[in-house]
Amino acid sequence: MKILNFGSCNIDYVYALDHVVAAGETQQSNGLNVFPGGKGLNQSIAAARAGAEVYHAGCIGEDGGFLAELLQTSGVDISYLQQVDGKNGHAIIQVTKDGENCIVLYAGSNAAITKEQVDDVLKNFGSGDLLLLQNEINLLDYIVERAYEKGMQIALNPSPIDENIAKIDFAKLSYLILNEVEAAALSGFTDEAANLAYFQQRYPKLKVMLTLGKRGCIYQDGERQLRHPIFAVEAVDTTAAGDTFTGYFLAGIAAGMDCAEVIKRASCASAISVSKHGAAPSIPDLKSVEYGLKTMRVKEL
Ligand code: RIB
Repeated sequence: MKILNFGSCNIDYVYALDHVVAAGETQQSNGLNVFPGGKGLNQSIAAARAGAEVYHAGCIGEDGGFLAELLQTSGVDISYLQQVDGKNGHAIIQVTKDGENCIVLYAGSNAAITKEQVDDVLKNFGSGDLLLLQNEINLLDYIVERAYEKGMQIALNPSPIDENIAKIDFAKLSYLILNEVEAAALSGFTDEAANLAYFQQRYPKLKVMLTLGKRGCIYQDGERQLRHPIFAVEAVDTTAAGDTFTGYFLAGIAAGMDCAEVIKRASCASAISVSKHGAAPSIPDLKSVEYGLKTMRVKEL
């Protein structure tokens, strides 16, 4: 099964801070690093490092050439990635001593996708292929409609959550991969069981992968719920932990792996990424994850 990821590519400006800047406060940073990132790019790289056949579609700006190179050297097909005039999308990320982060986005090239580009790319995919989407590009609802008409399975990571997500018909999705905050924003429930029941009742065919931060994750489909705890690591930077999880999760699904195994592997990959700095640079390859599965311990729930 091929994975087509129509997604963002960002240049991440990461500032090390004692604490996240408060309204009205000015703070001297402890350092700046510039990393490749973007939820789209991170997830494509994670899925490719997990062994999937991944195609990344979208737009980079005049300054985004190194992002395309990284995708390619990570094993992602970039035939459907276009360079457009103007600046690449970027993110300003504050990372605290505890590894927590806070992100400001500038869409730039990520908002330059055209309907013609979408139609051209989708000509090369059909039923049996999996489309992956996040919410950092324009035309999200159009892409869902066209891909659904073609019979593709669609996986949505509705992150970051905003009014564009409300334009999407969730009945056309096969997978929803989200965290607790996003689930609460969509369902109106903060309680985990109520959240899962909401999606099950409204969209019985939707498979939901809910990540719960330090409490692990739960996978739900029409027949079962599977839970997995987190692996214990010292957190230095949580940026891209969710993206790593999503890429590894979908790569496992695309490979037809047993779901319990898929969420175990995705949890381990995500934990490894938290122990390293940066977004894309923190995403582990399959060898490191396999080693982690043998050596790392889970934190019992
Ligand atoms: O999920 C992490 C990503 O979110 C960062 O790489 C940043 O670019 C933002 O899009």
